[in-house]
Amino acid sequence: MHKDLESILISRDEIAAKVAELGRQISADYEGQDLLAICVLKGAIIFTADLIRHLTVNVTVDSIAVSSYGKSTHTSGVVRFLKDLDESVEGRHLLVIEDIIDTGLTLKYLTENLRSRNPKSLKICTLLDKPSRRQVDLQPDYCGFSIPDKFVVGYGLDFAERYRQLPDVGVLKPEAYRLQ
Ligand code: IMP
Ligand code: MG
Repeated sequence: MHKDLESILISRDEIAAKVAELGRQISADYEGQDLLAICVLKGAIIFTADLIRHLTVNVTVDSIAVSSYGKSTHTSGVVRFLKDLDESVEGRHLLVIEDIIDTGLTLKYLTENLRSRNPKSLKICTLLDKPSRRQVDLQPDYCGFSIPDKFVVGYGLDFAERYRQLPDVGVLKPEAYRLQ
């Protein structure tokens, strides 16, 4: 285990099994249809890469970036577009892929914006969900794991851009926040 982690919350094996299961479910739900997978940068890069390899439907991948926490572990409530999609979403089936839903503010803003561009459908797939922290009404269509209100890193999730490369999802030690 990495020295800055207090504990491992979800192991790489549990993640792999869940990602495969989500891939099967999504493939069944979209059978015969073309899907546009939208990776919400940067946290969802590893999840997206693993998930799309379990999809049996035709899929194209695009990415979008919105502002998140910066160096703090608390949301500012301010959401900004940092990078827009490359492709038009009009008339297409969209699957927005996110690492974690916390307050829900980021995805609420993002999905409202995407819906205004007239897609055929829009669903949300998140690896992690912290339902106890929700500030807006937003439910994922596909969710890997519901987790308690702890700040987690690894498998794409960061603290101040660090720890994304860790293969497991773990809880950061409080002193690791203070050192940075
Ligand atoms: P929301 O707008 O509060 O739902 O925040 C969602 C974004 O905050 C996610 O895409 C993450 O980038 C970040 N975030 C929320 N909780 C965590 C966490 O426990 N670890 C790392 N990033 C988090
Ligand atoms: Mg982040």
